[in-house]
Amino acid sequence: MRALTWQGTQDVRVETVDDPEIVNPRDAIIRVTSTAICGSDLHLYDGVIPAMTPGDILGHEFMGEVVETGSASTLQKGQRVVVPFPISCGSCFHCRITQYSACENSNPVEKQDMSEKLYGYPMAGIFGYSHMTGGYSGGQAEYVRVPFSDVGPIVVPDHLEDDQVLFLSDILPTGWMAAENAEIGPDDTVAVWGCGPVGLFAIQSALVMGAAEVIAIDHYPHRLELAKKLGAKTINFRTTDVREALMEMSGGIGVDAVIDAVGMEAHGFAIDNILDVAKQKVGIGADRASALKQAILAVRPGGRVSMPGVYGGMTDKFPLGALMEKGLQLRTGQTHVHRYLADLLAKIEDGTIDTTFLISHRLPLEEAPRGYKNFKEEQDSWTKVVLKPGMAASSGSGSKAIGGSEPRSIAASTLSLVQNSARPAPRW
Ligand SMILES: NC(=O)c1ccc[n+]([C@@H]2O[C@H](COP(=O)([O-])OP(=O)(O)OC[C@H]3O[C@@H](n4cnc5c(N)ncnc54)[C@H](O)[C@@H]3O)[C@@H](O)[C@H]2O)c1
Ligand SMILES: [Zn+2]
Ligand SMILES: [Zn+2]
Repeated sequence: MRALTWQGTQDVRVETVDDPEIVNPRDAIIRVTSTAICGSDLHLYDGVIPAMTPGDILGHEFMGEVVETGSASTLQKGQRVVVPFPISCGSCFHCRITQYSACENSNPVEKQDMSEKLYGYPMAGIFGYSHMTGGYSGGQAEYVRVPFSDVGPIVVPDHLEDDQVLFLSDILPTGWMAAENAEIGPDDTVAVWGCGPVGLFAIQSALVMGAAEVIAIDHYPHRLELAKKLGAKTINFRTTDVREALMEMSGGIGVDAVIDAVGMEAHGFAIDNILDVAKQKVGIGADRASALKQAILAVRPGGRVSMPGVYGGMTDKFPLGALMEKGLQLRTGQTHVHRYLADLLAKIEDGTIDTTFLISHRLPLEEAPRGYKNFKEEQDSWTKVVLKPGMAASSGSGSKAIGGSEPRSIAASTLSLVQNSARPAPRW
């Protein structure tokens, strides 16, 4: 099959690799019809997440059709499913209390050392997200193996298009959990740093939860425009002093809750960020937490800090004093996607939530490298890239979706692999 592989910093390529196989009775194989590039993928692309190996198949936001099932899978061939990005067993302590992204059974023992040393506890498995999270092949591919297929995938009704439900795999639940972690009440003013996909869905979620006012912060005019269309007020941090503006907009008190939807690669010329860029470049493990620091300083005393943005290592000059002296609450984490699926699917079906406005580009899988490059370098207009493995490569860069390819048998595509593969494919 064809799959997008990581080869090194800012070097991703579509290659021919082995087809996935059922290796556990609870597995299923999915033929991917849609898969998206995430801001989290950019951290891998930029080489700031460790434990990547050339040849790793990327992609943790995907959906498709069930084409094979293990004997203990509860899925049936032909079903359309969206797959959550964390891999969860459904029966360990953390899964039982719905903390799915802390599953204890999905990261194989031999992959646990690094995260255990870094974080004091091994991470759970995540599709296509480094060997620290299990080294699982991701879904930016024609096919993908889904472990614990009796727990994660949600079957979606045929009347909903891929574009309407694909983001259940990650960014919609992530935006929702970010808003939930901000404990939004009806009179609250909430500020959201970052108007990428996660920030925009956090804004949408905060408004659905009844926030009185949402203020969106970014520096890309088009992304800010999208936030405005959702109902947010906006601040461009290149032209406006963010803290001053927030004080003014919140009657001199400060906002009640802040959401950092930026993560470890903050932009901007704040002095701490310029230093962090240099430190990150020389690989001494410093995350660029400029947006988070700004958020902690801007929130009112007693306020809430929600941090969906991904961080990997350590950060310097963290305003610990502000966190303590202002009595703030900080909540964060990889999203417990499974927890939110049924509720969010219902909200999509009844029209409360629309996710399709976000998609700026639909590309064939073969053009994934261009998708990565532009999602990173043309962020203003490339707001979300959806890759369609079934889209003919020649149909190019248009933003119109076409249907998926006809299902083909795994055996047939394995045959083509034997004939075409340039080099042995990695397997995890
Ligand atoms: N917790 C989770 O489970 C989870 C899931 C998905 C994504 N994420 C993380 O959420 C973050 C955002 O993801 P995304 O897909 O929206 O990424 P993205 O890169 O598309 O968007 C980030 C946005 O932040 C803006 N930004 C950068 N520096 C800023 C600053 N100093 N102030 C304000 N805005 C700033 C950028 O201009 C950009 O629009 C990433 O760190 C990603 O890894 C977390
Ligand atoms: Zn993602
Ligand atoms: Zn578990």
